[in-house]
Amino acid sequence: MNDPDDLERRVAARPSAFRILTGDRPTGPLHLGHYFGTLANRVRLQRAGVELFVLVADYQVLTDRDVADRLEEHVLGLVADHLAVGVEPSTATIFAHSAVPALNQLMLPFLSLVTDAELRRNPTVKDEIQNSRQASVSGLMLTYPVHQAADILFCKANLVPVGRDQLPHQEITRTVARRFNERYAPVFPVPEALLSSAPVLLGTDGRKMSKSRGNAIALSASEDETARLLTRAKTDADRHIAYDPENRPEVANLVLLAALCQDRDPHDVAADIGAGGAAALKKTVIESVNEFFRPIRERRAVYADDPEQLHRILAEGNAHARAVADRTLAEVRTAMGMPY
Ligand code: TRP
Repeated sequence: MNDPDDLERRVAARPSAFRILTGDRPTGPLHLGHYFGTLANRVRLQRAGVELFVLVADYQVLTDRDVADRLEEHVLGLVADHLAVGVEPSTATIFAHSAVPALNQLMLPFLSLVTDAELRRNPTVKDEIQNSRQASVSGLMLTYPVHQAADILFCKANLVPVGRDQLPHQEITRTVARRFNERYAPVFPVPEALLSSAPVLLGTDGRKMSKSRGNAIALSASEDETARLLTRAKTDADRHIAYDPENRPEVANLVLLAALCQDRDPHDVAADIGAGGAAALKKTVIESVNEFFRPIRERRAVYADDPEQLHRILAEGNAHARAVADRTLAEVRTAMGMPY
């Protein structure tokens, strides 16, 4: 692994030398965990001058289920989420990988560069197989990390902000880039992973915040819905509020959420509440979340009311991604002796 501080320094020194590719599966609305875990970081890096490609990974939805439900709604929702948090579409490329044929075509040569043993031992894939909704394991489940390499390498991204679970995929991408360059010609950068330094936000039940667990607060949730979800959140019997993630994870998580929204140290937030108990804690969290996300939610509502604009921004992103992918595929075919 690279040193994250060193990488941050290199990015700050020369942002224009970096291109980021990052993305999400369109399986539902993005939530507060996404915001503090990665979305805020994407916006920060874009504002620092790094070029940003935001992928809506629609084909990847089919890794663990037979059918991708309400795809168009989720895809446009992801676009709206990104615009609402401040991704600037005039410089970022927001696109869906199904709309970029040349990206998908890279999957073929890339598959030839990895062994079946490498695919089978990927711990994130193993975990997803365990939790899959399907009775059997599809070929896509096993090979999607190679498709993800195509997502990243088609635009020659050299920086990929990821959570820990994505590191095995990142290694496959680096392996594919290195092997292609050695076997054929030096076409690809070997991209670096940028691990988020943000603490992990749990859901309202104290487990990992996740769209599928029903424990998430969506960016798009209303203030009432936010209050309802947080009022129901799990706490414990100790009236004295403290920030102790080790021993009191549910309470600590609510304290952390308030602290992130207030941009304060969680220990100070907890100290302010002190003996006020869970009720005072929840009141603080609800107010903090609703206040912090109010402008984001207002912007999101404006975009959500204008699906034509969302379609247009996505169409422009798709067109740009296609142009980039066509160029890369041409280089790949030339390197492989297929210039005909
Ligand atoms: N696997 C990522 C997720 O489940 C989504 C994704 C697809 C992605 N392609 C990517 C992330 C390329 C980073 C880079 O959230």
